Amino acid sequence: MNILMVASEATPFSKTGGLADVMGGLPAALAARGEHVAVVTPAYRQNEDPDPPREAYRNLWIPLGPGYSVDIWELTERNVAFYFVHCPPLYDRDGIYGSGGWDFPDNHIRYGVLSMAALGVARHLFPANIIHAHDWQTGLLPVYLREHFSADPTFAGVKLLFTIHNLGYQGIFPPEAISQIGLDPRLLNPEQLEFFGKLCLLKGGIAWSDAISTVSKGYAREIQTPEYGFGLDGFLRKHGPIEGIVNGVDYQEWNPENDPHLARKYSVNDLSGKRACKRDLLEEYRLPADLDRPLIGIVSRFASQKGFDLVADAASALLDEEVSMVVLGSGDSEYEAMFRYLAHARPDQVGLRIGYDNPLAHRIEAGADIFLMPSRYEPCGLNQIYSLKYGTVPVVRATGGLDDTIDEDTGFKFREYTGSALLQAVRSAVTAYRDRDGWVSMMRRGMQRDFSWSAAAGEYASLYRRLTG
Ligand code: ADP
Ligand code: GLC
Repeated sequence: MNILMVASEATPFSKTGGLADVMGGLPAALAARGEHVAVVTPAYRQNEDPDPPREAYRNLWIPLGPGYSVDIWELTERNVAFYFVHCPPLYDRDGIYGSGGWDFPDNHIRYGVLSMAALGVARHLFPANIIHAHDWQTGLLPVYLREHFSADPTFAGVKLLFTIHNLGYQGIFPPEAISQIGLDPRLLNPEQLEFFGKLCLLKGGIAWSDAISTVSKGYAREIQTPEYGFGLDGFLRKHGPIEGIVNGVDYQEWNPENDPHLARKYSVNDLSGKRACKRDLLEEYRLPADLDRPLIGIVSRFASQKGFDLVADAASALLDEEVSMVVLGSGDSEYEAMFRYLAHARPDQVGLRIGYDNPLAHRIEAGADIFLMPSRYEPCGLNQIYSLKYGTVPVVRATGGLDDTIDEDTGFKFREYTGSALLQAVRSAVTAYRDRDGWVSMMRRGMQRDFSWSAAAGEYASLYRRLTG
């Protein structure tokens, strides 16, 4: 089967969050099962290409906005063909989705072009049986395919799977924008692309695909309720069922036994290196080298999704516990300010790095004792699963993928969205930490859990087969 994936970011080339990790791991795992897999993604200025890509197609004409002539570049990584859409006016910019805290106003065109170019790749370079599109950035692809090319023999029998990685990001644009993306304004109605008077690209993916999935079973249930549905729960129920397939982990990248970002490696059988990683991490953050004090790690986008208002609520009681905290993240200024305040008020306890730093993210996974993810909602979440592998015990809010991947054998959960519930869960973890043998057993149970991509790839493969009959 030929599976063409389309997404706005993919490791090791570009990344802002977990979607990129999925686009790095899932295609490779499908290829390892013998499927033919390709990924279409933009050639951003920020791309880090392990090898120079080669030109695979020149001057593909995309009739959107003013019209764009794009080139397609290609390179193969772990038996997956990556096709990069090269269009400098759209992707050679100083940010992936925006810059200086603002989204680029022409993102509907940038990602409309990505979607159209992916159909060009399917026509000229990679004849697909399945097109698997991800998140709002590819929401127009199913619309173009079904509205523009329904009678085109190139696409006869092609099935479309649309995966929602985060319902909180919907690709909302002013209604006039529809005239710039090559679609009939009549599609701007509540049953199709309109959402409260605006253009909503995510609705395209939901309404025009053959199947819809999301990245955990828990989140698949949650998004069909008003509490987590962002106003689209009814629309989702109508276009369901919504499949839930929990993400895997790329253990080639996230494994303390061979992680190049760690000075000392360690494994479930020999944990001594983890203590050395903790010492290094405390030093890196210029915190006192108190190795017996539990160290809490946070690595995250700072967005309201991630629940840091609970950290703000609970901060002073939390830091009255004998704990230290290392934080890495960037995003909304209110959370940056909150963590800056904590680092300033408690310099012996809280270390902060604002920014994006992948090697440091690995060192936090390794050096921390506890990993905190108090998310308001979490479609899957990857850091808590990385934490398990690194023997770093997760404390998570029981929602979506966090609830599905962590249990009482491997971590601590709280359900109620309050600072005091978070505090109680952290206190339970700190108490458990004092019982060294019990704690090490918990670490080991987490390290032995297997979240490799092969299981999820098997589930996707069955879903593709069900779709193609
Ligand atoms: P989301 O996709 O919602 O941000 P996930 O938990 O699925 O959440 O994935 C986040 C990914 O991005 C992880 O690989 C995490 O390590 C990485 N990440 C997030 N923030 C940073 C940061 N500031 N520096 C480095 N890596 C980060
Ligand atoms: C989204 C979600 C996150 C998920 C990731 C990959 O960014 O917020 O929970 O793990 O996508 O599916």
